[in-house]
Amino acid sequence: MGRTGDDMAHTGPSTARAALADAAAGAWAVRLDGVAVTVHRAPVLRDLDLRLPAGAVLGVLGANGSGKTTLLRLLATLAVPSAGRAEVLGHELGGPGVTDIRTRIAMVGHFPALYPQLTLAENLRFVARLTGRSDEAADRALAAVGLAGAAARRAESCSQGMARRADLARVLLTEPSLLLLDEVHAGLDHGAADLVDHLVGQVRTRGGTCVLVSHEPERLAGLCDRLVRIVDGQALPEVAQ
Ligand SMILES: Nc1ncnc2c1ncn2[C@@H]1O[C@H](COP(=O)(O)OP(=O)(O)OP(=O)(O)O)[C@@H](O)[C@H]1O
Ligand SMILES: [Mg+2]
Repeated sequence: MGRTGDDMAHTGPSTARAALADAAAGAWAVRLDGVAVTVHRAPVLRDLDLRLPAGAVLGVLGANGSGKTTLLRLLATLAVPSAGRAEVLGHELGGPGVTDIRTRIAMVGHFPALYPQLTLAENLRFVARLTGRSDEAADRALAAVGLAGAAARRAESCSQGMARRADLARVLLTEPSLLLLDEVHAGLDHGAADLVDHLVGQVRTRGGTCVLVSHEPERLAGLCDRLVRIVDGQALPEVAQ
C-alpha cells in the first residue's frame, strides 16, 4: 500500500447533504477541549482548545515540528487524544462510530495518497468504486484538474505536482465535509494553486469545513476566515503583523 493508506480518508455519496445539514444546524465541525496528543511518547499537542463551526475555513501556521500535521492527523481520526475531549463531525474521537465519519473527511498530506503502480485513472476509479461513484465521475475529476492527458500514466511516474493534482481530483470526486490540506500549495504551479482555492470554495459552498496548514501566511490570509499558530502545543490566535 506504500504511502497511500495512512493519509487517505475517503468520502461517501451523501456527504454534501450531510455537510449542508451540519451548517444549517449551526453544528460544530470540530470541537477540541483541552486536547493532548502524544507522538512516539513525546507530547506534541497539549491543552489545545479549538472550535470550528461547519462552513469555517481555518489556516494553521507554526514552526517545523510544532505539531501542525499532528493536528490534521487528529482531525482525520488518524490519531487519538491522550487527554481532553475531541469531537469531529459530531463524533467523539476514540469513541464508537468514528470510522463512519472517515467517509466524510479528505486529507491531502505531505505524500500523495496514490497507489504508485496504478495509473492515475485506476487510482481515481478505485476511489470512485469505494465511495459508490462511477468511473465516469472519476475521469471527470481527473480532467477537471488538468490530468486527462496523463490518465494512463502510473502514479509512480508522475511529477510531484501532477501527483498533488491527482490528490486534488480525489477531493473533487469525494466532496468531503471536512477537508484537511497539509502544505498543499508546496510545489504547485499557479494553475494548481488556483485549483486549491477553487476546491476550498466548493467545500465551503456545500457547508463543509476546511483546515489548511501552510508556511505562507499571505496565501492563507485570502482563503481563511481565521488563522491560528501552533505554539507550545496550543493553537493561539494569529495576530496580524
Ligand atoms: N515519525 C515520527 N517519529 C517520532 N517523532 C515524530 C514523528 N512524527 C512527528 N514526530 C514528532 O512530532 C512533532 C510534531 O510533528 P509534526 O509533523 O506534527 O510537525 P509539523 O508542525 O507538521 O512540522 P513541519 O512544518 O516540519 O511539517 C515533531 O516535533 C516530532 O518530534
Ligand atoms: Mg507537517
